Amino acid sequence: QRRITVRDLAAAKERGEKWPMLTAYDAMTASVFDEAGIPVLLVGDSAGNCHLGYETTVPVTMDEMAVLSAAVVRGTRRALVVADLPFGAYQEGPAQALRNATRLVKEAGVGAVKLEGGERSLPQTELLVQAGVPVMAHLGLTPQSVNALGGYYVQGRGDEAAHRLLHDAKAAQDAGAFAVVLEMVPAELAAEVTRSLHIPTVGIGAGAECDAQVLVWTDMAGLTSGRLPRFVKRYAELREALGGAAKEFAQDVVGGAFPAEEHSFH
Ligand code: KIV
Ligand code: NA
Repeated sequence: QRRITVRDLAAAKERGEKWPMLTAYDAMTASVFDEAGIPVLLVGDSAGNCHLGYETTVPVTMDEMAVLSAAVVRGTRRALVVADLPFGAYQEGPAQALRNATRLVKEAGVGAVKLEGGERSLPQTELLVQAGVPVMAHLGLTPQSVNALGGYYVQGRGDEAAHRLLHDAKAAQDAGAFAVVLEMVPAELAAEVTRSLHIPTVGIGAGAECDAQVLVWTDMAGLTSGRLPRFVKRYAELREALGGAAKEFAQDVVGGAFPAEEHSFH
């Protein structure tokens, strides 16, 4: 059984088939999603918030992405594994982007990389694609720029911003990107971008018309603590389930109910 490739995703758009994408940061979770048939797994730099304990995605390093990406690749057989180039790993220019993308492809074994930005990241996208590294673009809310954006707000509102986003999406496609993530943009705009491109759009907080949908797995599964953005749907309550298991284990140990006879050797 071979892995999903960017060709399969292009074919899905032609056939009008939607597909799901989830983030993953470790081998075991990735294997669960792979066995569940999720065709594309993103080793997102959301690992910063969701796995490594940072406040934002900004501090995430290449070393961290390489370790997590390799784990996700090892945990999967079928999924296309896409890894984020973290903040600071491609902004210097195409040569830096290629050096770091190459590391993720060779060291970790990912099938594609993702980078944020339209116009400003085109030279990077062009060089990576020329070199044979499939690139997923990321437009709209780009969390690596949170300090410049001033928070996590809907992007592309108003004629000028909408026009710029559509332009950026087409430019990313022309530079050779195989897909484009649209994060927190109005559904109508995401629908227009989706109709205008021949490559798939992957929405997160971007309405129902995108070709694919992505969620951060810890949000989707209810492991994340605190309030979630309104675009998230929770499909499980893992935080409650796991916390309950830990409390029961603790009670059993304190009360002497664990280990029982069947857990003991003689
Ligand atoms: O890092 C991430 O999880 C992402 C997705 C939200 C698209 O970039
Ligand atoms: Na990301």
